[in-house]
Amino acid sequence: MRNFTSVADVTNVSALVNETLDLKKNPYAFSQLGKNKTLGLIFLNPSLRTRLSSQKAGQNLGMEVIVMNMDKEGWALETRDGVIMNGTTVEHIREAAAVMGQYFDVLGIRSFPGLQNRDEDYSEDILQKFIKFAQIPVVSLESGTRHPLQSLADLITITEHSTAKPRPKVVLTWAPHVKPLPQAVPNSFAEWMCQADVDFVITHPHGYELAENFTEGATITYNQDEALQNADFIYVKNWSAYHDYGKILTTDSGWLLTNERLRITNQGKVMHCLPVRRDLELSSEILDGPNSLVIPEAANRVYAAQVVLKRILEANF
Ligand code: CP
Repeated sequence: MRNFTSVADVTNVSALVNETLDLKKNPYAFSQLGKNKTLGLIFLNPSLRTRLSSQKAGQNLGMEVIVMNMDKEGWALETRDGVIMNGTTVEHIREAAAVMGQYFDVLGIRSFPGLQNRDEDYSEDILQKFIKFAQIPVVSLESGTRHPLQSLADLITITEHSTAKPRPKVVLTWAPHVKPLPQAVPNSFAEWMCQADVDFVITHPHGYELAENFTEGATITYNQDEALQNADFIYVKNWSAYHDYGKILTTDSGWLLTNERLRITNQGKVMHCLPVRRDLELSSEILDGPNSLVIPEAANRVYAAQVVLKRILEANF
């Protein structure tokens, strides 16, 4: 593995999940692998889980870890080519990424989409420029269109909590929100679930269709009750519209998942990547109840990051 930016960087998803579960049993087994290697974690946007879990993952492998909240601590970054930098930006991504490539052995980068220009966001211009100019292995810490470390942690969580049923039913449901959020988490979750051995259903209001290349193989319905029937796992997430790009089309609280709605599931376990707005996006009664997996799901972010870093260290050094 050279870079980790999507499920396409993984040749065998189920082998990666099994390796992660082994690593979780003995997280310090490879604590010499990262000796004298430096992991740089660069955040252009806020984070709690990704920042802390990736830092811990690197440390478990014996890496030195440097974190920079570039949005707050760095020079204002110019990402466009061919512009005269006579405005507010101070440093170009070409130099910034190249310099980071001199200091780090592996680079993690978080760069959210602007949600103004779909072509720009979906081109993954910033992530691709970090890969091009840093010239070291790059791990996505969430990009314009995907959040692969989250999706791997989600799949690990589903695998751990699956009961005897061979193919669990997994439902991704849209939830209300007051802010326009990226499609990165649902896109990524969808493309990972489409590669996993699960019955995968997506439900959302009209207008919230995701880009088709992320959902090929999924069943899609506008009827949440129909989707929730006998569901084993319910993944709750808000996202803004893809087609009417970045727009909020509804905040219908009828889509809020409650214990009442859970009755039609197969005692479904509820997941959310966090952070979550209580009683807007997901009900407190579920978050505080026995069906919630949000904390074990967040815990698995460490092992997802660790297995990816382990594979990168093994393949490149
Ligand atoms: N789920 C997730 O990526 O959380 P953070 O934004 O806090 O990193």
